[in-house]
Amino acid sequence: MQHPDPHSHYDSSQPKARRLRLKLRVDFNARRIDGEVVLEFGGMMSGPLDLDTKGLEIRSVQVPGHGPIRWELGPVDPILGQRLRLEVPEGTQEVAVAYGTAPDAMALQWLSPEQTEGKAAPFLFSQCQQIHARTMVPCQDTPLVRIAYTAEVNVPEGLTAVMSAGPTGQEALGNGRHVFRFLMPQPIPSYLLALAVGRLEARDLSPRARVWAEPETVAAAAWEFAGVEEMILKAEGLFGPYPWDRYDMLVLPPSFPYGGMENPRMTFLTPTLLAGDRSLVDVVAHELAHSWTGNLVTNASMEHFWLNEGFTVWAERRILRILHGDDAAALGWAMGQKALEDSLDQFKSEPQLTVLRMHLEGIDPDDAFSSIPYEKGARLVAALEREVGEERFLRFLRDYMDAFRFTSITTEQFCAFVGTKLPGALEAVNAKAYLDQPGLPDTAPEFRSVQLDTLTVLAESWPDGGRPSARQIAAWKPTELLVYLQKLPRRLTPADCAWLDEHFQLMGRGNYEILVEWLTLAANADYEPAFPRIREVLLRVGRMKYLRPLYGALGLHGRTRALASEIFAAASPGYHGLSRRVVQGVLDKYPA
Ligand code: BES
Ligand code: ZN
Repeated sequence: MQHPDPHSHYDSSQPKARRLRLKLRVDFNARRIDGEVVLEFGGMMSGPLDLDTKGLEIRSVQVPGHGPIRWELGPVDPILGQRLRLEVPEGTQEVAVAYGTAPDAMALQWLSPEQTEGKAAPFLFSQCQQIHARTMVPCQDTPLVRIAYTAEVNVPEGLTAVMSAGPTGQEALGNGRHVFRFLMPQPIPSYLLALAVGRLEARDLSPRARVWAEPETVAAAAWEFAGVEEMILKAEGLFGPYPWDRYDMLVLPPSFPYGGMENPRMTFLTPTLLAGDRSLVDVVAHELAHSWTGNLVTNASMEHFWLNEGFTVWAERRILRILHGDDAAALGWAMGQKALEDSLDQFKSEPQLTVLRMHLEGIDPDDAFSSIPYEKGARLVAALEREVGEERFLRFLRDYMDAFRFTSITTEQFCAFVGTKLPGALEAVNAKAYLDQPGLPDTAPEFRSVQLDTLTVLAESWPDGGRPSARQIAAWKPTELLVYLQKLPRRLTPADCAWLDEHFQLMGRGNYEILVEWLTLAANADYEPAFPRIREVLLRVGRMKYLRPLYGALGLHGRTRALASEIFAAASPGYHGLSRRVVQGVLDKYPA
């Protein structure tokens, strides 16, 4: 038995599946997918085969041409789920598992019509990263195993299914049901399996990019993301030809728990990006960059998550620098610095979770999630870039992607590769300190600009009466305002809050980054005029990045704690399971 991924029952002495054939029947009434998955091995195999499952009802296991075979579910592990062990007879090339998902499958959120923009039809979406694919499909649920897949998705007539794959056809069955077919020809890790079903419409943004959304939001989405082709071109300039054929996007209902998810050929996005001024498209740059860093070259397990996210944050800011210049990139790094400091603070009693090369045996990867692999990781990448120079670093990156394309690698493999291509660079930047020591090394690169310094000085002068001038207030772009708000002292008075709202019209902002930063300050200050807006936001949006700080800030005062409990009671049935768990964790830490 060899278990190279602490979050999977995958046994590396057994064969890997090469390809999945999925048949999924989506039952909105029962909130269940009835599924059949055929795992193809691309050759003969026999003996035990261990798959990951969580909450699945296994109905039968067959080897085509042979008939039913023996299977056994192991004990329930609260993080890993249950091992499904199959006894596979000689000469087997594929096995078929029939199963049903649980109503509370973590990968799936089932929305009632009221929870959608159109209020006309239900909606289903999946979110498999980190280890939730096993609640949707029995599989070797580790990025060490890469699979191509085909899928046939049966949904109620009138709804559209999209997946992290290319469409290959659809047909009405005439019985009130409709089938959509898909093909993902390239091998992907299981966490990139993705499905969404709802009332959907698409708009083309370029010959290879389109955006999907509910009919009510599709026009706004097409406007917001109109610049995506330009981003793809810039990214190609950095990393080489886009490897996944199409780059489509799906805007989800507001309960989507993340900002974006890099499902190949179909990035999933939160509707909170639709600010109306294109100010939040850095998330699209990020998910697009994952097409290379993450989806093409993938972390071998969640212990090496920084290889996905650190590189992608670095790439995202590199793309932004090309599109919008040095100042814009410096502001991006400044916002990241704030997120990093918050995370280092959050984990100050668990310093083992602040290293890049993590040890996650027995730890739920969702609990280990923070900005550290993102921002500390991006700083290590930037340090290497500064050490060897931009040009040489880009050449290195191209080599790296060529060497490891469509594979899943560890930190050690990455370091060995840097060692041969950029000898001495790891030592020169003291990479060990990033990889294995807590906190951020003193030598980490800093990103400054005149504009950033001005904002910092001004924000820090708040307690001494420093205030932005009318000219500054009128001239700042959304990101400048955001950085300014982030740099203000955390503990303002209600009078301070009134001043800010009056001068910046914060309460009515449609940019959720600004709105939530403001509402967090207001909650910290026990500023009552903001309470209705806080309630509105927490009832509408399920993005964890916003729920965590807002509910956290509401914990400071007696009446805001009462407000938080009351809002959570009303909002939690609409939250995704992951979001609900995160908020519950925050509320549990409130003083009694
Ligand atoms: N892959 C992540 C989202 C994710 C991480 C899902 C871990 C599940 C577990 C995605 O690429 C991401 O990082 N999204 C960020 C966007 C950002 C950093 C620009 C988000 O959702 O906020
Ligand atoms: Zn990411």
